[in-house]
Amino acid sequence: MFDTRFFPGARKYWHMGKLYDWNTSHVHVMSHALHYGSSVFEGIRAYNTERGPAIFRLSEHLDRFFLSAKTLNMEVPYTKAEIVEAIKRVMKENRLRNAYIRPNLFYAYGNLGLVPKASPVELTIGCWNWGAYLGEEGKQLGVHVLILPWKRWHISQIDLRAKLGGLYVQSNIGATYARRLGFDEGVFLNMEGRIAEGPGENVILVKNGRLHTNDYRESILEGITRSTILELARDLGINVTVAPITVEDFIQADEIFFTGTAAEVTPITRVTDGRDKNLAPEKWPEYVIGDGRPGPITRQLAERYNDVVRGRLSQYEHWLTYVYDSADEALRYLGTIEEEQVTKF
Ligand SMILES: Cc1ncc(COP(=O)(O)O)c(C=O)c1O
Repeated sequence: MFDTRFFPGARKYWHMGKLYDWNTSHVHVMSHALHYGSSVFEGIRAYNTERGPAIFRLSEHLDRFFLSAKTLNMEVPYTKAEIVEAIKRVMKENRLRNAYIRPNLFYAYGNLGLVPKASPVELTIGCWNWGAYLGEEGKQLGVHVLILPWKRWHISQIDLRAKLGGLYVQSNIGATYARRLGFDEGVFLNMEGRIAEGPGENVILVKNGRLHTNDYRESILEGITRSTILELARDLGINVTVAPITVEDFIQADEIFFTGTAAEVTPITRVTDGRDKNLAPEKWPEYVIGDGRPGPITRQLAERYNDVVRGRLSQYEHWLTYVYDSADEALRYLGTIEEEQVTKF
């Protein structure tokens, strides 16, 4: 049995055109990706709307998926339209209203030389009801982050627009380090010593009523949530500056928040500067952001995001891909099915 404690609502996953019971596993242990991280993935969310579940910015996520695949010299065995249909199918099979959707493309079993010349590219898709990535409390009240002592991969080393599985080993180490020391999340600096991003989130700060964020030149993955928030802010008449962010800018900000498909909009209310590895953790300087509570602009944008993804603002409906053809069809499929309890990660 595979424990689904961390995958609430998961019943079936999709692998190369077929649906499998969550309890089955048939990927060979000598698969290339398992050894070298030779995979690319997407993190996508679907939210319940009046017309049933809708997938947020699916087209942009799949464009990035194809770009990631190209970086790893992969031939994607399906078209974008076929992947859209496969994702809808998995959503329907799992009877989910709200979901995190994870397509993963990987070099499978064939050979183990570094060049995957005999390893086929395979696609899997799973979905489950993943709650607030940094916890519901963190999303509402704000999180405490640690500035990590390691520098993010540099843009001159690898195309950071690609979500390559192997790159995430750094996120794994950084996030684990921060959590072991009691923080909610880490923040990486870049090689230039400026703020880069979280292990799976972008950062945006507010200073004197204006939003500030960095871009790919600062060694970040320019997230789809980031671009959504920047567009929502501009539509609300909030000015945006895209430029490098120093540690001083960060700790002196009026407000800071993370953006990401998983993290959505999560306020950052405390920052500890852990750059100096020679200092004992209790000596690291700690800063309260604003008055230590989520600020007004963060709250306004978080609420707006929440409304947009749930289809409550018609001018952004073009970002939604409905899973079912109509509200009636959604009701027929989903009926009164209760969703399982969501879990904090
Ligand atoms: C390293 C990193 N930065 C930023 C993001 C945010 O990107 P998005 O908003 O597209 O989810 C993610 C998540 O995908 C990420 O893994």
